[in-house]
Amino acid sequence: MAGASLLPAAGRVAAISGASRGLGRAIAERLHADGWALSLGVREPDGLVARLGLDAARVSAHRYDATDRASAGAWIEATLARHGRLDALVNNAGIFRAGSVETSDEGDLDAMWEVNVKGPWRVTRAALPALRASGDGRVVNIASTDGKRVRDHTASLGYVMSKHALVALSHATKHASWEDGVRVTALCPGAIETELIASVPGATPAGNRLDPRTVAETVALLLRLPAAATVSELVLNTRLESTL
Ligand SMILES: NC(=O)c1ccc[n+]([C@@H]2O[C@H](COP(=O)([O-])OP(=O)(O)OC[C@H]3O[C@@H](n4cnc5c(N)ncnc54)[C@H](OP(=O)(O)O)[C@@H]3O)[C@@H](O)[C@H]2O)c1
Repeated sequence: MAGASLLPAAGRVAAISGASRGLGRAIAERLHADGWALSLGVREPDGLVARLGLDAARVSAHRYDATDRASAGAWIEATLARHGRLDALVNNAGIFRAGSVETSDEGDLDAMWEVNVKGPWRVTRAALPALRASGDGRVVNIASTDGKRVRDHTASLGYVMSKHALVALSHATKHASWEDGVRVTALCPGAIETELIASVPGATPAGNRLDPRTVAETVALLLRLPAAATVSELVLNTRLESTL
């Protein structure tokens, strides 16, 4: 990715939630290869940087648990203390629980709201001053095709509602920070080959799912696009659908 019109990666700092495994890990590895400095927000930071084989000179791991409200601000504070700046935020951590309109467990709805929506909102709010100060701040929220439509009766009510809400948060963040050069993307992938998909009814069959590295490559590009090339929503679908 050496195009002269792209923003540099070296010298810039990206924060990624849920980088311990799955898509978040693939994003961390991809941005690391581009030369970013990274702050990983994870539930268990001890030993993570070494386990992932990343360069400890420019990668740090900090505790972030979306169910612990104070940890969002603490993670961003620790990021600024360690790296001195913040240029990009990837809200990736997320959970899935099955359940229809009639069968959903209310505790599961609350859990998905907490992790998939309020977590990203808290981290975004804490990160915005530094992202504004960057001058070219970028936010990528990992939503889903389930943030764009209700596929059929097997769709998880809580997941679909939370991912629609995350798309809404993305647009609200875009409006709040546009004048300061911050650009925000709601990335909406279909099924990705990770542990999360194992429990999703009606998901795209294994052979046709997205490789996490393909999604990570997309994130890497989104974070380096100049302000005049704004992608506020991007759908990566695995299947043929009427308008997605
Ligand atoms: N897989 C798909 O088909 C698919 C499709 C579209 C969008 N997505 C979205 O992509 C994102 C990544 O999912 P994935 O597929 O990589 O799933 P995954 O393999 O299950 O990984 C989920 C990540 O979220 C973290 N996490 C879970 N609960 C958390 C909490 N309370 N606080 C902080 N972190 C927490 C996990 O950390 P631990 O290691 O500590 O558990 C893990 O790093 C999610 O937002 C998901 O909704 C996935």
